[in-house]
Amino acid sequence: MGKVVEVSFVCLGNICRSPLAQGVFQDLVNREKLEHKITISSAGTSSWHIGDFPDQRMCQTAQSKGIQLKSRAQQFQRKDFDQFNLVLAMDQSNFATLEKMAPDTLPENKLMLFRFFDPENKDGLNVPDPYYGGVKGFEAVYQMVERTCPPLLDYIKSRFLNSQ
Ligand code: 4NP
Repeated sequence: MGKVVEVSFVCLGNICRSPLAQGVFQDLVNREKLEHKITISSAGTSSWHIGDFPDQRMCQTAQSKGIQLKSRAQQFQRKDFDQFNLVLAMDQSNFATLEKMAPDTLPENKLMLFRFFDPENKDGLNVPDPYYGGVKGFEAVYQMVERTCPPLLDYIKSRFLNSQ
């Protein structure tokens, strides 16, 4: 077996968007029986919610689609850039924070925007922060994440797995 690809999704609090992306992407990877080749985690750029379960509203939205969110919030660290093969920022603000934190030697395309892979990203490349909004915002985040995960997996397969 070749090397394992390590992927991290990163938002601000690590209690809404990135835990959902982690859960949905893990479900897809499991269904394709790739869980031994791809490991998935998530983090926040802030320290605000370290140790917390995902937001109850995000959990309920995910649960209604058959996805259980199991992560605990952690803060992304500069050293994490060494561990992960691919770091996916959930919006441009967190991308900018991660870019500032990254070592100068960061390999090209190790840090990318999640919605770069969204086939319907004409409205922009941000997964909007649902935290201060209503239920509709959480559903919108789910729809974006759900449709973006399959093309993201195709990309990971072609970039990291097919050449092994
Ligand atoms: P997330 O959402 O970045 O998708 O986890 C947020 C969670 C908490 C806060 C902001 C965004 N907050 O201000 O505490």
